[in-house]
Amino acid sequence: MSVPEDGGRAVVDPMSAREDPRRAAGGPSVAPTAVRCDGVSKRFGGEVVLDNVSLEITKGSFTSLLGPSGCGKTTLLRIIAGLETPDHGEISLSGPGAAASTRPSVAVVFQQANLFPWKSVYRNVAFGLELAGVGRDAVERSVRSALEMVNLAGTEKKRPYELSGGMQQRVGIARALALDPEVLLMDEPFASVDAQTREELHDELLAIWERTSKSVLFVTHSIDEAIVLSDKIVVMGAHPGRILREFDVLMPRPRTEETTRLHPEFADMRHAIRELLVRSAVDPSGDGAS
Ligand SMILES: Nc1ncnc2c1ncn2[C@@H]1O[C@H](COP(=O)(O)OP(=O)(O)OP(=O)(O)O)[C@@H](O)[C@H]1O
Ligand SMILES: [Mg+2]
Repeated sequence: MSVPEDGGRAVVDPMSAREDPRRAAGGPSVAPTAVRCDGVSKRFGGEVVLDNVSLEITKGSFTSLLGPSGCGKTTLLRIIAGLETPDHGEISLSGPGAAASTRPSVAVVFQQANLFPWKSVYRNVAFGLELAGVGRDAVERSVRSALEMVNLAGTEKKRPYELSGGMQQRVGIARALALDPEVLLMDEPFASVDAQTREELHDELLAIWERTSKSVLFVTHSIDEAIVLSDKIVVMGAHPGRILREFDVLMPRPRTEETTRLHPEFADMRHAIRELLVRSAVDPSGDGAS
């Protein structure tokens, strides 16, 4: 997780209202944008890793970045997080506004929870807030609220080695939530857990997202995971890394893993995305549209 220097202070409000981006899409008032990438390009050595990538994340929406290994998903996420600079193009973040200037614009959850092994769960989750100089009482409120959200209340005193892999990932998510960022950037956060735990974490993440106003950008290799979680799936191709197509996922919310998988649109969407990825793998220089 990156810990922005301006850290978080506000307690996550589990009941705060979230604008429905789908409702806003066709209406007269267009939903505000949380993240905008405009013509972002990036090279490493001689390789074009990202080629003219433009992307918009509506405030309060859940967007997934899906694509093959090496197509630049992590690089794009790191550029949005400010951990990497683009060679061309611009990133704009809506930010939390002056009234909440101690809140960070983004927080990142990585594939490995990267917890401090010698610190307790409480101290791990509190770390970013303490670094930002947030007062003790506010830290405690934020940490307890974040741990409750990920169903880890009562584990405050445990050390990471006493937790399962899934629980460690939950601590990583709680650490990001405690900062109360505008945007949550998640880079394959469930890739290292078993299939059953992954499904449980999907349902938990869906519930957290329903209860908070977070805008989420979620990186994954899994078509199914992307469909279950997202409002929008941005499919990327490799060599060079670029956006092939965006899919709107209009299946009803609130969702769970099971209800979404049983929805008639699920199989069609999965098929369409798989086709696109296969075509793009066969012809990397095409746009996958043929
Ligand atoms: N710091 C770096 N220096 C040099 N090359 C890099 C660096 N970071 C990434 N790359 C290269 O950029 C390309 C895209 O990497 P990136 O990690 O963004 O892909 P990805 O889509 O996240 O892949 P995966 O799904 O395997 O995580 C790869 O070829 C990688 O080797
Ligand atoms: Mg990656």
